[in-house]
Amino acid sequence: MKNIVIFASGSGSNAENIIKYFRNDSRNRVVALFCNRPDAFVLERVKGLNTPAFLFNREDFVASRRVLERLEALKTDLIVLAGFLWKVPGNILEAFPGRVINIHPALLPAHGGKGMYGARVHEAVIAAGDRESGITIHRVNERYDEGEMIFQASCDVTPDDTPESLAEKIHALEQAYFPGVIKDFLAGL
Ligand code: GAR
Repeated sequence: MKNIVIFASGSGSNAENIIKYFRNDSRNRVVALFCNRPDAFVLERVKGLNTPAFLFNREDFVASRRVLERLEALKTDLIVLAGFLWKVPGNILEAFPGRVINIHPALLPAHGGKGMYGARVHEAVIAAGDRESGITIHRVNERYDEGEMIFQASCDVTPDDTPESLAEKIHALEQAYFPGVIKDFLAGL
C-alpha cells in the first residue's frame, strides 16, 4: 500500500476529490490532510471523509522538523499539493526526492511563480489575451512552479470568459484528471 499525504490550504475541492477517488483503491490510500490555515474550508470537508487532518504553522514547516517527522511517521510515499501556497522547504524535498507534486491552474511555464494562484492566475491569462489555458501537474523543486512537468490538459479561453468562468473550466479539468494522474504517478514509483 502506498501512502499519500495531501497538503491544502483553501477550499479543498481537489483534496476531497482525491480522497474519494482513492477510497476504493487497493494499492494507494490518502493517510492525512496537512493544512496551514485553521480557517480553511478544506478542514470542514475532511471531517466527513474519515481523513485525519494535521494543522501546522510556518515554524512547524520551515524552522523545525515537526512536519517532516509527521510525514515520516505516516510512512508517506507521495506528497500532493492541492491548492497549497507555501514553498516546500529543502529538508522535506530532500526527504522525498521527486515525490512531491503540485497542481497549477494554468499551462506552465506561462502564468506561474510566486504569488500566482487561484483567481490571480485566471486574471493574468485573460489579460494576456491567451486563447487557451489549462492545468499543469508537475514535480516540485525549490523554485515556484518550475519542477519537471508530469501532465497538462487544456481548455479554450473564449472572448466572453471572465476569471470566474475560466476558473470553472479549470476546476472541471482538475476534477477530471488530477486523481488519475496521481494514480499513474504512484504506479511508477
Ligand atoms: C486549484 O485551482 C489549484 O490548481 C490552485 O488552487 C486551487 C485550489 O482549489 N493552485 C494554485 O494556484 C497553486 N499555485 P481547491 O482548494 O478547491 O482544491
